[in-house]
Amino acid sequence: MTRIEVKEALSTSVANGLVNLKGWVRTKRGSKNVSFIALNDGSTLSNIQIVAEQNISEDILKLINTGSSISVIGKLVQSKGSGQAIELLAESIDLIGVADPDEYPLQPKKHSLEFLREKAHLRFRTNTFGAVFRIRHAMTFAIHNFFNSKGFSNIHTPIITGSDCEGAGEMFTVSTLDKVNTPLTANGDVDYSKDFFGKETNLTVSGQLEAEMAALALGKVYTFGPTFRAENSNTSRHLAEFWMIEPEVAFADLDENMNLAQDMLQYLCSYALNNCKDDLVFLDKRLQEEERHKKKEERQEMGLIDKLKFVVDNDFERITYTEAYDILRNSKPNKKKKFKYPIDEWGADFQSEHERYLVEKKFKKPVIISDYPKDIKAFYMRMNDDGKTVRAMDVLFPGIGEIIGGSQREERTDLLKQRMKEMDISEKELWWYIDSRKFGTVPHSGYGLGFERLILFVTGMSNIRDVIPFPRTPKNADF
Ligand code: 4AD
Ligand code: MG
Repeated sequence: MTRIEVKEALSTSVANGLVNLKGWVRTKRGSKNVSFIALNDGSTLSNIQIVAEQNISEDILKLINTGSSISVIGKLVQSKGSGQAIELLAESIDLIGVADPDEYPLQPKKHSLEFLREKAHLRFRTNTFGAVFRIRHAMTFAIHNFFNSKGFSNIHTPIITGSDCEGAGEMFTVSTLDKVNTPLTANGDVDYSKDFFGKETNLTVSGQLEAEMAALALGKVYTFGPTFRAENSNTSRHLAEFWMIEPEVAFADLDENMNLAQDMLQYLCSYALNNCKDDLVFLDKRLQEEERHKKKEERQEMGLIDKLKFVVDNDFERITYTEAYDILRNSKPNKKKKFKYPIDEWGADFQSEHERYLVEKKFKKPVIISDYPKDIKAFYMRMNDDGKTVRAMDVLFPGIGEIIGGSQREERTDLLKQRMKEMDISEKELWWYIDSRKFGTVPHSGYGLGFERLILFVTGMSNIRDVIPFPRTPKNADF
């Protein structure tokens, strides 16, 4: 008999024939005469109720516990109980795999997210994580859909590189050198010429520089890959391994870059609303319950679905760094010394408390800040005529802070070289990047969307460790 999935079974009307369902048991309850088993196979958030009457042997039923896997043959019937329209009246049940109830850590009750993080290999089997990872898949698909429909080519940029795109020195080394008898040069430095690649290499922090090379021929490209940062930030917004989407567009200036970013984020939110309804409704309720435990002033005003709709329906606010700086400096929390990092001198980077003030209190919508001071941004950003600011942009989202960072790129060779010198970026290492400006250079722009930060926003989860299957953070690389 061919198996059907729970999602299909639940959307089928009552039929006379027999069907086969397979899945994992969420709960079992009942009396001597009849047992009710909630079965889930991951195809949908919902469980299907299996009704096992006396024709099913007590010996089998005894072994069916939360977590065990079973195969059921039966008839789809109208449910007599409330809570579901359709249920499966079992004719036979096979136990596929047992789950010892004394050892299986997931009980049919609410577990804390912290507890589930330690059981990351099993947490997929909870409603919350099932919903999160189905939505994560939908967003992956939607991203490819969005760029494909606009004529972009997906480029696979290298994971092992010799360059530090962001110039922040937060890289994981890739090496096969002997760690005990490390070969040294005459000066006593590590002799990387003896290493696998014959030079110092690391895991990429961004595919941007390589994506630019492709954009300067293919016109419109995007990357979607893993990136690695050895920054020691143990926050609910940072991972050591995260996924980034980086479009790069030839002949586009910063305004067009902002338009693309807004279009993309609105498309993604509306895709989720249209394609992930059940999971969003569940996560919306979950979020509302969480909010109820918070202090009133810390509660979010909007529910999850309303927040997504709001992003789809409203233009993002666009302001420059200098405008944002003026707003923040004159803001109530700054005057009342409520910020942990007071806004004082022009030129300092904004902290997440400042970003959240702008987004959540001042404008109450996503904000794009542009034209940042050059000293707090990367070497490749295009210099403005003032000589002080660069054509950078950050997109800030409610509850998240920075979700996108991008810029128009410096396409003028002399200015690029000057910035590299000022910021101590090796021209020798990036000779190929400079080459691209020597041969038919054109204005171009791009940005990076942090995929997990997007998933945080779309699912309403509050810790980035809960939106990637197996998070890597300082002192944690289990599984
Ligand atoms: O602002 P960032 O560092 O920009 C770049 O890497 C550029 N090369 C992108 C480009 O222009 N092509 O990072 C981009 C985004 C951030 O806005 C944030 O959403 C995310 O990547 N991000 C992180 N997400 C999780 N954990 C971390 N440690 C992250 N660091 C950055
Ligand atoms: Mg950034």
